[in-house]
Amino acid sequence: MIKRNLFIGGEWIEPEFYQDRYSPFTNEKIAEVPLATIREVDAALESAHNVKRLFKKMPAHKRADILENVVNLIEENREECARLIAMEAAKPIQIARGEVTRTMMTYKFASEEARRMPNEFINMDAAPGGENRVAYTIREPAGVVAAITPFNFPMNLVAHKVGPAIASGNPIVLKPASQTPLSAYFIAELFDKAGLPKGMLNVITGKGSVVGEALVTDSRTSVVTFTGSAEVGIAMRNKAGLKKMTLELGSNSAIIIDEGVNLAEIVDRIVTGCFAFQGQVCISVQRIYVHESIKKDLLKKMKARLEKYIFGDPLDDATEMSAMISPEDKDRVLSWIHEAVDEGANVITGGESEGNMIQPTILDNVHSKMKVSCEEIFGPVVTVTSFIEWQEAIDYVNESEYGLQAGVYTDNLKRAFYASEELEVGGVMINDFPSFRLDHMPYGGVKKSGMGREGIKYAIEEMTEMKLVTFKK
Ligand code: SIN
Repeated sequence: MIKRNLFIGGEWIEPEFYQDRYSPFTNEKIAEVPLATIREVDAALESAHNVKRLFKKMPAHKRADILENVVNLIEENREECARLIAMEAAKPIQIARGEVTRTMMTYKFASEEARRMPNEFINMDAAPGGENRVAYTIREPAGVVAAITPFNFPMNLVAHKVGPAIASGNPIVLKPASQTPLSAYFIAELFDKAGLPKGMLNVITGKGSVVGEALVTDSRTSVVTFTGSAEVGIAMRNKAGLKKMTLELGSNSAIIIDEGVNLAEIVDRIVTGCFAFQGQVCISVQRIYVHESIKKDLLKKMKARLEKYIFGDPLDDATEMSAMISPEDKDRVLSWIHEAVDEGANVITGGESEGNMIQPTILDNVHSKMKVSCEEIFGPVVTVTSFIEWQEAIDYVNESEYGLQAGVYTDNLKRAFYASEELEVGGVMINDFPSFRLDHMPYGGVKKSGMGREGIKYAIEEMTEMKLVTFKK
């Protein structure tokens, strides 16, 4: 059993209250973590606020070295990191190992970006009145970053907020997801070993209504970076006033598959995009729009692949799918499936549960107003709908209130360009699934999927203020 304390001002502080954490797979108690009070949140904010000026003065090479040290420490503790993720999130260990590799890459990019902050020289004599003047911009840390992270990538989505904050000289108060706080506390331990000065990273767990609320509204935070549901993100936006904000708010991502595409080549990838980590990924494939001529074949091939799927213990090397993050989420996903079936959807495969696991589910005969189609399901469910005209497929994708990433498989260049221009999303993946992400890519959405971009270089822009300096000769 793991017991964790609050990480505030570089010290491990015993909290007033603890809460129990349970394995989503076995339901057994695995940890006790702090349930922070408002007094403890205040201490974390004060500690970050107090080092703001100090951190701003820290040279880029020192910030870069600390981040590089963390990469090395993660490498030394690779398997422990993966096991922690697998245990607390029920993420199959092979996928958890992939997340650890990505986390190292994310901090590596942060280290590199720290050395090349995006400053610019301005040609002042381009306008009358600019003669004999020299001007340049500098990027300054915006101030304390409040980072609120989700359960689904407990290490790498923490890295996407902590990495750019440190690279750009901003202290952080991090509230990791209450379901998966252990990976974040472990990373705090590594930053401490890596030489990060006290107070620059603070980690606190607790209720959204206490910790989240304070982080968003307190005048000591200047940037809020949040990954989670649209509902919570919008509520935060309404309370944050003039703070800078990055909101990554999920999606019901779609993929279009054109006629003539070789399904045998892509079916494994599509199945992975739909069901990896039980579909609990913002860019999971939730809606497939496939040309009518190949729909039957696609369903047959997907079903055949799923018949070989291996379910079970996330710590077992062979496992491909495990438990949902909580029994409540399992029940919610099942109820959406049942509701769709009552309204006329066909279950091609899946639709049942065992323990906290839900079988990978393919639904046909779905209409766009069903929850399984128009809301973010965050579970192992995909809908399959056919189209005849290309425009019809584009319209289906755009009918969504969300717009994070979309995938398009086509051998037709004109249609590929047309889709890349017409799809209302933050990223279009031609000849790949919408779930494709490398950690230096700009990543973020439009519409209800949020605002701002992650991907270290872009996140640094969101966490810094541009200052102009001019010199008159
Ligand atoms: C997310 O679920 O928002 C992140 C997906 C990823 O990083 O692959």
